[in-house]
Amino acid sequence: MNKAVDTFYVTTPIYYVNDIPHIGHAYTTVSADCLARYKRLKGYRVLFLTGTDEHGQKVEKAATAAGLTPKELADRVVVRFKDLWKVLDISNDDFIRTTEERHRRAATRIWQEVARRGDIYLGEYEDWYCTPCENFLTSNQLADGRCPDCGRPVDRLKEKSYFFRLSRYGERILKYIEENPGFIGPPERRNEMVSFIKEGLRDLSVSRTTFSWGIPVPGDPSHVMYVWFDALTNYLTATGYPDERYREFWPADVHIIGKDILRFHTVYWPAFLMSAGIAPPKKVFAHGWWTVDGRKMSKSLGNVVDPFAVAGDYGTDQFRYFLLREVPFGLDGDFSTATLKGRINGELANDLGNLLSRTVSMIARYLNGEVPARVASRDRAELEGRLQSMFRELLDRVDSSMEELAFHHALEAIWSVIREMNGYVERAAPWQVAKAGDREGLSNVLFTLWEGLRILSVYLFPFMPGSAQRIWDQLGVDERIGDRSIDDLARWGSEVPALRVEKGPPLFPRVEEA
Ligand code: ME8
Repeated sequence: MNKAVDTFYVTTPIYYVNDIPHIGHAYTTVSADCLARYKRLKGYRVLFLTGTDEHGQKVEKAATAAGLTPKELADRVVVRFKDLWKVLDISNDDFIRTTEERHRRAATRIWQEVARRGDIYLGEYEDWYCTPCENFLTSNQLADGRCPDCGRPVDRLKEKSYFFRLSRYGERILKYIEENPGFIGPPERRNEMVSFIKEGLRDLSVSRTTFSWGIPVPGDPSHVMYVWFDALTNYLTATGYPDERYREFWPADVHIIGKDILRFHTVYWPAFLMSAGIAPPKKVFAHGWWTVDGRKMSKSLGNVVDPFAVAGDYGTDQFRYFLLREVPFGLDGDFSTATLKGRINGELANDLGNLLSRTVSMIARYLNGEVPARVASRDRAELEGRLQSMFRELLDRVDSSMEELAFHHALEAIWSVIREMNGYVERAAPWQVAKAGDREGLSNVLFTLWEGLRILSVYLFPFMPGSAQRIWDQLGVDERIGDRSIDDLARWGSEVPALRVEKGPPLFPRVEEA
């Protein structure tokens, strides 16, 4: 059985439960949600997975510090993540916790497969370990005696450990990267990984004996699996592995991650999978890093952005829009309330919100609220032609942007049409058409506006699902976006049940700017 062509499997990292969710976690999950929703609109059967990484030394330490068992800590923190995903309108199909039985089973099995192929052996580890990163380091890799990634002090480790023969896989991974140019995204990150592999891969320590919070090594319960071996397997667990049905969604179409964990996903993970005889994921996309007001986000600086607060103060869709629009996906970005407010007042309230409220008000005033009939007009043939051809091009523009995970480009394309619509209102001037008593003309102009907004909502849905549906509600469309495919719904003049428009509260209320 091979993976069916109409399925799409997208994942987020599973987040550590030693900390509560912040804007970085929200970012990865919102972007994965946007892609999942888009693929569903395109007619794919989607599996969208997120979850929590609950084992390892870091979680154990955090639990001890809080006077809890690791499982108690996990049970508390997991609620925060699940609540956040509700608040942010995340449409994940599954939520995995690595402490679940299904996961222990999958991780145990993949370990056994790898061992059966002779890729695991018992040795002794003596080197450095960074607990916050859960990462092994050699003396050469240290930066001034500290972790090169997070800058924190490292621990000296000397213990018996099982090793994975990573050194066997360098060539095969390089070949995979070469043959699959889309495997690592954005493309700039590919070279980084290629040089890392070319420096030579050392065998990887994959078990620990100095603590016990993890999945026991099959056949030797005095060891627990290295947390990354355990964690990466989550992506397989959720497909049903080791049951044969896992092939329905495997290989994953894309793992969306932050750039901090690229090496784990593009070197270690494919190596584990190749060893076990399982296909590597098709794509790993690493997005950039958020800073806050130009500074690194950290607890000690007290500037950690709480996504519950941002969504509560400014609105879920306003926050989602900001995250996906502000930064080209793949690059670093900076969060500040000033830029957030600017985008809300400019693009959301002025460009989009006003267009909707003007359209609905004019239909209410001039047509008694009835959804206008589609009428052609010679007077505005050129204006209409231009607008409709922009709509026709939009489908391809958005589709190619979404294929590249260029969410910001997709939004730019959508906004170029929104601005064109605003220009159309001014040029077609329905208030003058009304003054002239031209009923047909009014129907023509107002249908154009109504239809344009109807289609735009379909495109907006993956980005701002709640608001997109509220636009349809105000337009009087009696259907749920997502019940039909985008190719069908984004056609000019496609049939939808609709009777009367219904003016609602402003979609995106203006916010006070400093
Ligand atoms: O690494 N900007 O979990 P984690 C953007 N459990 N994204 C950020 C961010 C920031 N400032 N800070 C965090 C782990 N992220 C492992 C993953 S997967 C098999 C195991 C996001 O809780 C980004 O997606 O430390 C990053 O990759 C992830 O949070 C790390 O989350």
